[in-house]
Amino acid sequence: MNQRNKSFPKDFLWGGAIAANQTEGAYLEDGKGLSIVDLMPNGLLADLKEDSTDLNLYHEGIGFYHHYKEDIAMFAEMGFKAFRTSIAWSRIFPKGDEQSPNEKGLEFYDNVFDELLKYGIEPVVTISHFETPWHLVKEYGGWKNRKMIDFYMRYCETIFNRYKDKVKYWMGFNEINNIYTGPTAAGAILIEEHENRLQAIYQASHNCFVASALATKLCHEIIPGSQMGAMLALSALYPNTCHPNDVFETYEVRRRALFFGDVLLRGTYPSYIYRIWDEHDVHIKMEEKDLELIKQYPSDYLGFSYYRSTTHKAGTRILGHTGGIAGTPNPYLEATPWGWQIDSKGLRYVCNELYDRYQKPLFIVENGMGTNDEFENGEINDDYRIDYVIAHIKELKEAVVDGVELMGYTYWGPIDIVSAGTGELKKRYGFIYVDRDNEGKGTLKRTRKKSFNWYKKVIETNGEDLA
Ligand code: BG6
Repeated sequence: MNQRNKSFPKDFLWGGAIAANQTEGAYLEDGKGLSIVDLMPNGLLADLKEDSTDLNLYHEGIGFYHHYKEDIAMFAEMGFKAFRTSIAWSRIFPKGDEQSPNEKGLEFYDNVFDELLKYGIEPVVTISHFETPWHLVKEYGGWKNRKMIDFYMRYCETIFNRYKDKVKYWMGFNEINNIYTGPTAAGAILIEEHENRLQAIYQASHNCFVASALATKLCHEIIPGSQMGAMLALSALYPNTCHPNDVFETYEVRRRALFFGDVLLRGTYPSYIYRIWDEHDVHIKMEEKDLELIKQYPSDYLGFSYYRSTTHKAGTRILGHTGGIAGTPNPYLEATPWGWQIDSKGLRYVCNELYDRYQKPLFIVENGMGTNDEFENGEINDDYRIDYVIAHIKELKEAVVDGVELMGYTYWGPIDIVSAGTGELKKRYGFIYVDRDNEGKGTLKRTRKKSFNWYKKVIETNGEDLA
């Protein structure tokens, strides 16, 4: 008998996703400590500068810390089934190495989760989303240092115990594979000029893998029925031409992004990594039990972000490239004003690629269109955004019909937020407009864009009515 899904499952988790550091603001309120983004005003691809005097829009974000009730009410109005956000580690442990947590920080997330649950919205929580306490990086060297595992586990134990009746879906690290291009944001490490860059990157990654295994174990113990996901940046990557050199090198580049999924979901280091380590003089310090832990406690599902596709040409940078940055222009695709090539078919391609490789449930935890929005007669008619999402949801449905197991779709930035890549507010993703500009000016007033009611209908009809 043919067993085939023809549409999205009934319990599909439609919703939206944000991160604490890009929205909350209140960067020093109620005992919060400095996190790395608080020192990265120009976005997370730029260098961290401890004494920078540049305007840092993350400090105020979109004021979610004080506006969360209003914002969640609007998400509920759109019919969200799930809402993904992160916990700012430095609200709970301001420096990261304290013995006991900051009660005020814990209370804030109690309030946020209670508010979501009041509307029947399932919280989906990222434990570390580019916002490691700065003190841990400065004093300990971030994830290059194995001590980070202990600090992270203390943080995990605290939040698992505190939110065990409220949160079932977790993710350990946001886009850990972006550590090649954004080592400070993704791996909380600073790499010195003289250092072996790949040594630092793979050592930090190894420590994160052990932490992920331990956190998965603990999460299952403290919260029966919970799910701990990996979260990776996995927009599509194509060869620039059918020249075998382009094809093979693209395969290698892609594999270096998938490497993180290979370890986290399959539970073993893949054989191809040893050649890379040998050729780059990388020697990973491991403890005896590490590989066993990684094997015993793999992630339950794969959450990933998908925004665009990139083409790769042989001979250009391989390491340090995750398939998200640079690339050669694809003549078949349009791009956003920020140069992100729009490719909805690529989403179906990636869903199939990942499900074939891992056979674990997939969760699209980020997808969206970031662009400039202008008011016309008091309204924002963002048909371009609607078109983008329609095209991607259509392909997602095809992926379901292809047999891919999909848990949900949380649109990235359902409300305008500060960009991670550039630290600006002009690049807007929201269905809800926030009155705040790149100079930090504005009333923070929220306004529904045209896409707001459109997305509401998509959720109401479980993705059937996209018109
Ligand atoms: C992902 C991150 O890389 O992409 C988010 O997880 C980020 O934090 C998103 O905001 C979109 O990138 P940008 O640069 O447009 O904010």
